[in-house]
Amino acid sequence: MTETSFYDAVGGEETFRRLVHRFYEGVAEDPVLRPLYPESDLTGAEERLRGFLVQYWGGPKTYSEQRGHPRLRMRHMPFVIGEPERDAWLRHMRDAVDSLGLPEEQETRLWDYLVYAAHSLVNSPA
Ligand code: HEM
Repeated sequence: MTETSFYDAVGGEETFRRLVHRFYEGVAEDPVLRPLYPESDLTGAEERLRGFLVQYWGGPKTYSEQRGHPRLRMRHMPFVIGEPERDAWLRHMRDAVDSLGLPEEQETRLWDYLVYAAHSLVNSPA
């Protein structure tokens, strides 16, 4: 018997598509975050974050096939991420997580990870 991944339990690809799409709708309007994104079109960034989260939670490993090892801390070094950027990122992610309407246990597990990951990517002192 195989264990069901968190990815499958929360609804698979469709759930991560909704999550990350909603998140980037917020980023697109955000005066702190929008200038950080190098490309004028956020579609590529949306695909990369979605692919990463899908893989992290046990879905297809397309992200690493295309991008290699995530090395998230290293990949964020070109961007100044202090507390304002982290908090703005988490605010849009909170809105996106809420929009999914997941059962509480799943929501907490997803959210706790995102908070932990966002804190670990701060690379600029206050
Ligand atoms: C890429 C900002 C947190 C996952 C990026 C990019 C920016 C950025 C500007 C480049 C966009 C692009 O791919 O073209 C931030 C800020 C954060 C944050 C300000 C606040 C703390 C996170 C967290 C995760 C994450 C918590 C994972 C849970 C990714 C991934 C990429 C990325 C997977 C694409 C990496 C690649 O393959 O090149 N981020 N990020 N980020 N971010 Fe973040």
